[in-house]
Amino acid sequence: MAEATGDIGLIGLAVMGQNLILNMDDHGYTVVAYNRTVSKVDDFLAQEAKGTKVQGAHSIEELCKKLKAPRKVMLLVKAGQAVDDFIEQLLPHLEKGDLIIDGGNSHYPDTNRRCKYLQDKGFLFVGTGVSGGEEGARYGPSLMPGGTPEAWPLIKDIFQAVAAKTEEGEPCCDWVGEGGSGHYVKMVHNGIEYGDMQILAEAYDIMKNLLKMSYDDMAATFTEWNKSELDSFLVEITALVLAFKDEDGSPLVEKIRDAAGQKGTGKWTAISALDLGIPVTLVSEAVFARCLSALKDERVAASKILRGPENVQFSGDKKAFLDDIKQAIYAAKIISYAQGFMELRAAGDESKWNLNFGGIALMWRGGCIIRSAFLRDINNAFKTKPDLKNLLLDPFFTKAIHRALPHYRRVASQAMLLGVPVPALTSALSFYDGYRSARVPANLLQAQRDFFGAHTYELEGKTGTWVHTNWTGRGGRVASSTYNA
Ligand SMILES: *[C@@H]1O[C@H](CO)[C@@H](O)[C@H](O)[C@H]1NC(C)=O
Ligand SMILES: *[C@@H]1O[C@H](CO)[C@@H](O)[C@H](O)[C@H]1NC(C)=O
Ligand SMILES: *[C@@H]1O[C@H](CO)[C@@H](O)[C@H](O)[C@H]1NC(C)=O
Repeated sequence: MAEATGDIGLIGLAVMGQNLILNMDDHGYTVVAYNRTVSKVDDFLAQEAKGTKVQGAHSIEELCKKLKAPRKVMLLVKAGQAVDDFIEQLLPHLEKGDLIIDGGNSHYPDTNRRCKYLQDKGFLFVGTGVSGGEEGARYGPSLMPGGTPEAWPLIKDIFQAVAAKTEEGEPCCDWVGEGGSGHYVKMVHNGIEYGDMQILAEAYDIMKNLLKMSYDDMAATFTEWNKSELDSFLVEITALVLAFKDEDGSPLVEKIRDAAGQKGTGKWTAISALDLGIPVTLVSEAVFARCLSALKDERVAASKILRGPENVQFSGDKKAFLDDIKQAIYAAKIISYAQGFMELRAAGDESKWNLNFGGIALMWRGGCIIRSAFLRDINNAFKTKPDLKNLLLDPFFTKAIHRALPHYRRVASQAMLLGVPVPALTSALSFYDGYRSARVPANLLQAQRDFFGAHTYELEGKTGTWVHTNWTGRGGRVASSTYNA
């Protein structure tokens, strides 16, 4: 048996796996590749990996034998049962202290479970978010690893070497925290991605249906915005999509059926927010907007019956309004990211993950789908104040949102008046107005609850004392310890 020379093993030779292997090879690491369909391994070595140091393995046993101890094996296989199956197949060939890394799109509760299961047996486990698609995997993904803390020193160099870099050369990869936190952060990343996409889609709807702009003008506008504080991957590709012509010379996007698909990460982000009691309204509305879009046949039928404003046309200064839209996008994004970080904070507190918020912003700055200039400012905010309670309270963002608000309100109200659906833009604005209010109308809710269900309430200035009022008679208030709020 030849001496083991492999730095890391990788299972799963779909495009993501192949590209990550080639990326690691570029950075001088010796990767051992394995795929369940063994002929894939030979094909890969003979083609894509020809001329590299990549080694192949025809069995799990051979894969493990070719790795230097402590062994590191990364799985890039379909989320779900396949991950558990490979873990079971690997275990007989690994020793205590060896590390299994799941780089797939696993749901974080599974990662929590696997992490505990393997730690109890003396192995190390990491669940890592990988974002950036096939291109990212090849030339620099955003990597979000979390799991057994002792695993980080084993993978830090290789992960940071292959990850995307910021303009300043910082790697978009840092340790996220314990357990399933890496996959949780990836999930919230995807949720925020749903939100960003929905915001841009609403802006497009307003530009197209209120301002009656041409596709070329819309594409030019997004290209312009890409040079501003909105500079981001999603704004960039939106410009390219709007400019794209079909073979007959007309805009391709106009021909695409308006029913959005989804794979679940946005929904998971919203469900987790509900479980935690955190108002992540923009992402949730973005998920619901996709659900509504998918009811295509129902909408087509309803469109023949249900009426809105007639002859919709914007009558003000179009150029000024276009700038309003830009400011509205920016403000809604600030609120969405503030909500995302609120969710991360709550999840981290609940699971005792010890999350590194500045690091998370840094991981999202490059390589991933939500990468943007904007995340540099978020990274700065957490660098200045690691325990920042809310992004909206960072002086830079407080100022930015104050500046954008009058524009944002004009866009939201015009869209409402003229009947353009803008659920993400408006729900985020309402969240903002609630969050900035020392007093919201929940006093009335509490009174109603006490009226019909004797749920009791607290009086201002007397928190901790629960009282009940006999609302119908003249019984007055009774302080109570027997009622359960
Ligand atoms: C094997 O490779 C194919 C790509 O050819 C990929 O679709 C599949 O997920 C891989 N499976 C495993 C488990 O290695
Ligand atoms: C968007 O801006 C980036 C630089 O931040 C640039 O690399 C890219 O080419 C721009 N894209 C478009 C479509 O203008
Ligand atoms: C409320 O007050 C009225 C009038 O005093 C009395 O008849 C009634 O029993 C009280 N109801 C309760 C639930 O205390």
